[in-house]
Amino acid sequence: MEPTEKESLNEPTAEGSSTTDTSAMPKDPSKDFSPENAKKMQELFAKMMKDNPETYKKFEEFKQMQPLLQPHAFWDTQPVQKVTETMGISEITPGPIEENKKNDISTEPIKLAEGFEWCKIDIHNEEQAKELHELLNKHYVESDGGTFKLDYPLDFLKWALCPPGYKPKWHIGVRATKTKKLCAFIAGIPLNLTIMGEEVKASSINFLCIHQKLRSKRLAPVLIKEVTRRINRTDVWQAIYTSATLIPKPFSDAVYYGRPLNYKKLVEVNFFKKDKSFNAKKKLYTLPDETETPGFRRIRKKEIKKVYPMLKEFLSEYKVAINFSPEEAVHYLNYRENVVYSYVVEDPETKEITDFISFYSLNSEVIGHDKHDTMNAAYCWYYCSTKTPLESLIKDATIMAKKEGFDIFQMLNIMENEEVVDELRFAKLKGTLHYYLFNYRLPNINPEDIGVSFV
Ligand SMILES: CC(C)(COP(=O)(O)OP(=O)(O)OC[C@H]1O[C@@H](n2cnc3c(N)ncnc32)[C@H](O)[C@@H]1OP(=O)(O)O)[C@@H](O)C(=O)NCCC(=O)NCCS
Repeated sequence: MEPTEKESLNEPTAEGSSTTDTSAMPKDPSKDFSPENAKKMQELFAKMMKDNPETYKKFEEFKQMQPLLQPHAFWDTQPVQKVTETMGISEITPGPIEENKKNDISTEPIKLAEGFEWCKIDIHNEEQAKELHELLNKHYVESDGGTFKLDYPLDFLKWALCPPGYKPKWHIGVRATKTKKLCAFIAGIPLNLTIMGEEVKASSINFLCIHQKLRSKRLAPVLIKEVTRRINRTDVWQAIYTSATLIPKPFSDAVYYGRPLNYKKLVEVNFFKKDKSFNAKKKLYTLPDETETPGFRRIRKKEIKKVYPMLKEFLSEYKVAINFSPEEAVHYLNYRENVVYSYVVEDPETKEITDFISFYSLNSEVIGHDKHDTMNAAYCWYYCSTKTPLESLIKDATIMAKKEGFDIFQMLNIMENEEVVDELRFAKLKGTLHYYLFNYRLPNINPEDIGVSFV
């Protein structure tokens, strides 16, 4: 039977939980394996796997997929890839999972539980913008057990939510009917992708957030279905999204790297643990005061036009990449104080623009620290290089980030980032970011084949 989705704000029932017959399983494994034997078996198993790294890799992949093999009351009903599809049993032809027609999609909003109502959030309306800011700042992503909380300034939200051609109707809020308090949000943001050489009109889904008091009440699926409905009504059928949560089914898993710029502060706020080598590390992470590539400087507004064809060409090499329109490139890549920091390399002789790099600013609130309120993080955004080696480009970006007062420069191992992490002294950070496509079938790809980033 297909799992059914509970569109209510009630606790999920046990429906859909495992129905495996456990009667044949040993009641108490310790009666069958002594701790010594179990340990020996474990060691033997590990050795077998190590001797055969390919099998080991497959085994590790399989282990990671375990949560995806559990029933997912909502996701099992959606046009997303099933974990079993990419286990190497059959060939995968990239393309939509379902074909639909706009007119078959309901014009009525999905029903919300009693006591709640849909609302549009107009980010250009000061009061609504403030409400969204408050919801996200209080209830959006936390890390390290609540020590750090992402802090999205209003200018940043406006930039991220409103590229040219954005759809105000895709900025969806949920309010409590009585108090009118904003208690949940989800956003669709239009974008064009290139997937395995095919141009795909899509939406990115971002800023899914539910007030902490309303968690685990199956509101997320309702928000996702409503944003999907509104997007489908505009004849768009694919979406891309990322999450640290593992759900069916990522097409790629990326990891974060961080290059300390202010190591002392990062240790003080406990982002990095202090150890015996503190002084040596502090020295190791020192950066030059000035950038090193001749002609490296902040971009001038009109120069995006020159960068655009280079960037298009550069991104076209990736299996899944963003396909910027010229207007989107201006919006996303121009320098914006406190939001996006963009630089070019101008050849000192020919005056040609040969390279481009950018990063965005996203600070975290440091909770309950007596000396520091924020940790200022720069995140690698888009780049393209035709002449300057990527290592020099990213190094200069880290130098600029340091000069601008950032404490850390972070990036995922997407694009060509992993090639420079050792040389530029990036440290691997905790956590994985899973990349997902809605209604699109795709074989698993490596993060270095991804040319699309999200804030
Ligand atoms: C993510 C969040 C909205 C989920 O809400 P929740 O109350 O825990 O979950 P609900 O009970 O409403 O819904 C559960 C369903 O949503 C799915 N889900 C949970 N997090 C999800 C996510 N980030 N993206 C997509 N689906 C998600 C679950 O897998 C589950 O579906 P399943 O039964 O098919 O597996 C909520 O935890 C939140 O606001 N977290 C802080 C912000 C955040 O992390 N946002 C996501 C950023 S990528």
